[in-house]
Amino acid sequence: MTSPTQSDRQHGEQTAPGADTDTAPTAALVFPAGFRWGAATAAYQIEGAVDEDGRGPSIWDTFCRTPGKVLNGDTGDVAVDHYHRFRDDVALMSELGLTAYRFSISWPRVQPDGSGPPNQAGLDFYRRLVDALLEAGIEPWPTLYHWDLPQALEDAGGWPERDTAFRFADYAGHVHAALGDRVTRWTTVNEPWCTAFLGYASGEHAPGRREPAAALRAAHHLLLGHGTAVRAMRAQHPGSRIGAAVNLYAVDPAGDGERDRDAARRIDGLQNRLFLDPLLRGSYPADVLADVESLDFASAVRDGDLETIGRSVDQLGINYYSVFTVTGDPEVTGQAASSPFSTHSPWVGSDFVGFVGTGRPVTGMGWEIDAGGLHRVLTRLHREYPPVDLYITENGAGYDESPGADGAVRDTSRVEYLDAHLRAAHAAITEGVPLRGYFVWSLLDNFEWSWGYSKRFGLVHVDYSTQRRVPKDSARWYAGVIRAGGLPDRS
Ligand code: FCB
Repeated sequence: MTSPTQSDRQHGEQTAPGADTDTAPTAALVFPAGFRWGAATAAYQIEGAVDEDGRGPSIWDTFCRTPGKVLNGDTGDVAVDHYHRFRDDVALMSELGLTAYRFSISWPRVQPDGSGPPNQAGLDFYRRLVDALLEAGIEPWPTLYHWDLPQALEDAGGWPERDTAFRFADYAGHVHAALGDRVTRWTTVNEPWCTAFLGYASGEHAPGRREPAAALRAAHHLLLGHGTAVRAMRAQHPGSRIGAAVNLYAVDPAGDGERDRDAARRIDGLQNRLFLDPLLRGSYPADVLADVESLDFASAVRDGDLETIGRSVDQLGINYYSVFTVTGDPEVTGQAASSPFSTHSPWVGSDFVGFVGTGRPVTGMGWEIDAGGLHRVLTRLHREYPPVDLYITENGAGYDESPGADGAVRDTSRVEYLDAHLRAAHAAITEGVPLRGYFVWSLLDNFEWSWGYSKRFGLVHVDYSTQRRVPKDSARWYAGVIRAGGLPDRS
């Protein structure tokens, strides 16, 4: 791959999925000027170097060492060694022609115990990364919290404790003070749903607790931490553009009956509206509050909290992977998606909600592929919520793939997935949705949380024994899309 120039990116040629970039037709589906073309990663998934330069332990270090929590006992100790190889990785981004790169900052590198003065060596790493990106003409998009809570804060109660929100805002203030002169776009928290419900309800993610009431309090404190951090950051650099990244799903009832429709309402409520409503409207959805009444969620919400959270975003990040089809009928079988909401969960406020497979093709994660769901998520946000600039901050597909005999990774399924979702995104834009950018998850194969290294999401293949990086076919394809500024007509 050669490095495309800026003018190539605007006017160049475009490749058909999987084809070589050199022989590509011109884009027919052109994205708006200034559209961000990015890829995303997260600190614990790529950096390694967990004991270097004063980094403290995070809940993921602990979780990985708890037998049975992560497949094969994998850890992020080395990951893809990005901490030492970040300059090579920025060079790879340049080859792809990325105009933006979303990465996360490790809280325990900056505050090893989760509070107190910042660790300069930790901040310096991110300053070097940001400077390398800027030098390469790639806009840095840091995320402040992508799941690696300092263990000391979990020992003090974790996200279910209100104080964690204020610790987060302090930490955000330190990072923003160090980088705010050179970074404009910020994401506070990544997928608060996952932290709250996978971390504290189903226990599939660190810290592995199974306490539904604590999970709901965690959700509120993540939002409160976001809102409090935004205020602190705005006071330091009013020009910063700050958002949160939420993982949204299109949610459908399995059938037309009342029970299925009610199950879909509940799941949509906890998955989507529990986060969108406070962030964009400054209130929690009344039906969700009623559903979770027995868990005393309302007592976590104090006077002024919703003013702090509400209308706090300059942009909203959407992480989209799949759709949910749900039933309220225990007789219907066919679990499709891993979710803490499945089975008889008291926190959905009904006796039963089940997730049903529809027969759509799935990725290597078993997640149903439905690009139309992305279109629905985007147009629904536009229709039902106050206007806000939208960015797809994650979208991608995980498979367990390896290079062929010739060393190439022909990841046709990933190319098809990305192509279909970009078409859905483009359709939403033509319908007036203010979608301003798209980040592929992920730049590199990496540590996929409880799946360890068994699932690969990267545009770039990583041999974990040598750390050798090899761009997959999808990387070549995406570089072509970026050069063309869009996609070819399918006909
Ligand atoms: C998202 C996470 C990200 C990655 C992808 C596959 O939920 O934000 O870190 O694991 O899923």
